[in-house]
Amino acid sequence: MASLKLAVLISGRGSNLQSLIDACAEESFPAEIVTVISNVHGVKGLERAHKAGLPTVVIDHKEFKDRENFEDALHDVISGAGADLVCLAGFMRLLTGDFVRRWQDCLINIHPSLLPAFKGLHVHEKVLEAGARFSGCTVHYVRPDMDSGPIIVQAAVPVHGDDTPDTLATRILEQEHRIYPLAVRLIASGRVRVENERVIIDGAVAPDAGMINPAED
Ligand code: GAR
Repeated sequence: MASLKLAVLISGRGSNLQSLIDACAEESFPAEIVTVISNVHGVKGLERAHKAGLPTVVIDHKEFKDRENFEDALHDVISGAGADLVCLAGFMRLLTGDFVRRWQDCLINIHPSLLPAFKGLHVHEKVLEAGARFSGCTVHYVRPDMDSGPIIVQAAVPVHGDDTPDTLATRILEQEHRIYPLAVRLIASGRVRVENERVIIDGAVAPDAGMINPAED
């Protein structure tokens, strides 16, 4: 099977980008990164991409007169790189409905909660504030509403009584690094489709009490 071409969009640290770089380095992984785009100059994620020998582009939203112009530039770079799938990996800009529709079902995001709960920013603070017993992370197709769209893969983690936002974020990040490559592998293997705004994964077994991602091989 031909390798799925990924554009990875970042704004900062890039640890999820790193998990995709590491996955793609495995010979049997059915995807490759063709471009890494950051909307912020000088971030750690760009360093990670350089180290891996990947092409990078900075498209600084502040240099554009409006969102539309920024997104046109984004679109041109992604298309020019020949990407099949756009992976938002800590990309902290909201995308307009126009952009999202242009990449319908070819645009995925990772979010550090069990969506649809706890959308937006300061997720771990909100989870602790709510007294939730579990949190986790979600990889989903992007739709115009923030942090919404068909869910591809999730992982749950327990919330401990003595958790701080940082300790919870660290426990969840470990799972993010597991499920983002998993979601990409499932898509790249042609096992994922969207039907009536729900994701169907060929060959997935029934959910095991919701604790472990059912799609894992
Ligand atoms: C990750 O925890 C990711 O889930 C979150 O930003 C962090 C980026 O870390 N994304 C969002 O909150 C998007 N709504 P990274 O730069 O080390 O991958």
